Amino acid sequence: NTSPRMRTVLSALIQHVHDFAREVNLTTDEWLAGVDMINWAGRMSNERRNEGQLLCDVIGLESLVDDITYREASKADKPPTSSAILGPFWRADAPVRENGSTITFNTPKDGQVAYMHGQVTCAETGKPLANASVDVWQASTNGLYEQQDPDQIDCNLRGKFITDAEGRYSFYCLRPTPYPIPFDGPAGKLLKLMDRHEYRPAHIHLIVEAEGYGSLTTQIFDKDSKYLEDDSVFAVKDGLTVEFKPREGDAKAQWDLEYDVKLARK
Ligand code: DHB
Ligand code: FE
Repeated sequence: NTSPRMRTVLSALIQHVHDFAREVNLTTDEWLAGVDMINWAGRMSNERRNEGQLLCDVIGLESLVDDITYREASKADKPPTSSAILGPFWRADAPVRENGSTITFNTPKDGQVAYMHGQVTCAETGKPLANASVDVWQASTNGLYEQQDPDQIDCNLRGKFITDAEGRYSFYCLRPTPYPIPFDGPAGKLLKLMDRHEYRPAHIHLIVEAEGYGSLTTQIFDKDSKYLEDDSVFAVKDGLTVEFKPREGDAKAQWDLEYDVKLARK
C-alpha cells in the first residue's frame, strides 16, 4: 500500500518534472537524449561503480539531501560535527583494525604518510565515547579507491577503528591528494556540457557510530588542497577543513592530523 509520504514525494517529483519540461519547451530529441543518459548510467554501473549516484552528485543532489538531513542537528545548542555526502566508494565490509595500525599497504612512492588520531565525544556533554566505531576510507595517490584499482590489495586505505576507554582512535594513512571522479561516463559528459572540471579536493571519508548516538557520515578536507572552492560534487563545508602538521620523531609518518568528532545523542 502506498504511504502518505510516498504519495507526497511521487506527486511532487512528477509535478516538478512536468514543470521543467514546460519551462524549457523540452523537445522530443532532448527528452530522448536524457533517456539515453539514464540508460548509459545503468549500463556503466556495477558493484565497483555507482554511476547513478555520481550523476546525482555532479548536479549537487546528494549534497542538497545531506544539507536537508543535517539541518535539524545543526540547530542544537552544541551541534555535532558536520555531516557530508557518503559518495559512491564506501564498503560495508571493511575490516576492523587495531588502533595505531595502518590502512596504507604498499604505500606508493609519491604517497606521504600521516598519523591521524583523535577523540570521539558527546556533542552535548563532552563525555568521551568508548567503543565508538570510526570507519575510514580514502583514495590512493593515483586517484583510485582500492575497489577501482587491481593494483591495490583488498581493503587497502580503508578500515574500522574502535575507540578506547577515553574515546580515542588512531591510525596511519595517506595524506590525501586531489583526484578526478570517474569521467568516462554520463556524469563526466554532464560536467563537460556544463564546462566544469571533474576534480575533488583532497579528503578522507568517515562514518562514526556509537551506541545511543546518531550516526555521522562525513568527509574532512585538507585546508591546503586545490579545489576546495569548486569541488565537482559540492561536498565541502565550513568546519570540515583540517590542518596536517609536520610530525616529529615518528619514522612512520611525516604528517600529523588530529581530528575530534562530536556525536549527537539520539
Ligand atoms: C564522489 C565522492 C567521492 O568521495 C569520490 O571520491 C568520488 C565521487 C561523489 O560524490 O560522486
Ligand atoms: Fe572520496
